[in-house]
Amino acid sequence: MMEQSRPVNPPHSMSDWQPRVGIILGSGLGGFVDAMNVSAEMEYNAVPGLPASVVPGYAGRFVYGRIGEVNVVAAQGRVHLYEGFTASEVTAGVCLLAAMGVELLILTNAAGLVNEDFQVGDWMQINDHLNLTGTSPLLGGCNFHDMSLVYSPDFRAKFSEAAKSEGICLHEGVYAGMLGPQYETPAEVRMLKILGADAVGMSTVLEAIQARALGLDVAGFSCLTNPAAGLGECHLDHGDVLNVGQQAAGKMVKLLLSVLKDWS
Ligand code: HPA
Repeated sequence: MMEQSRPVNPPHSMSDWQPRVGIILGSGLGGFVDAMNVSAEMEYNAVPGLPASVVPGYAGRFVYGRIGEVNVVAAQGRVHLYEGFTASEVTAGVCLLAAMGVELLILTNAAGLVNEDFQVGDWMQINDHLNLTGTSPLLGGCNFHDMSLVYSPDFRAKFSEAAKSEGICLHEGVYAGMLGPQYETPAEVRMLKILGADAVGMSTVLEAIQARALGLDVAGFSCLTNPAAGLGECHLDHGDVLNVGQQAAGKMVKLLLSVLKDWS
């Protein structure tokens, strides 16, 4: 089936708000908004054409505010292919943020660690991805966008520097985006390792593709909430993913504050 991105327009109540940064918060990371100086909130279902998630742990709302001097819109929650949404529905929020004038899109997610040099609770800055979802938000036209540098090298350098000066462990690596909703099998995780993945999750890649196609700078961060299947003792559980995400969120807040406060 052919898909085309549908235009999603910012509602009137937000049309005079000029955000520079959009941030999409993954599982367990919604508490990031506590660090913002909040001006307004809006539920996703108040925006015509914007789907809302049914996944536990996702609030499904936009929060507008400031971090330091920078206007930020935080999207608490996202929708996923595995919920039955199409690629263009999954990225409708990105189109909305772009229409609002966002320059930098920060994508966060919870992910299983594939690179065993990393530890549960650490953050990984995404330097590239494997789109293994089998689809794209750009289907439906000759949208041959260059994806050589999806994750902005300039922002990667800024975040790495900030992590060093804040004493935060920030790895860099490749994120493999899977369809889900089931977690991977150990054989799939061994395959992902051979393909060059450092972390695995069920989101982010389509949003990053859509954002680059719209000309936004993209930064991506994975909170490593569990060893991927076959790499740890434990049975994988969404509740554990949320808990680790909540505990690790503070480090990401610190990092974002550090980068955004100096951003001119
Ligand atoms: N696999 C896929 N998605 C995930 C995982 C995982 O191990 N952990 C958190 N999201």
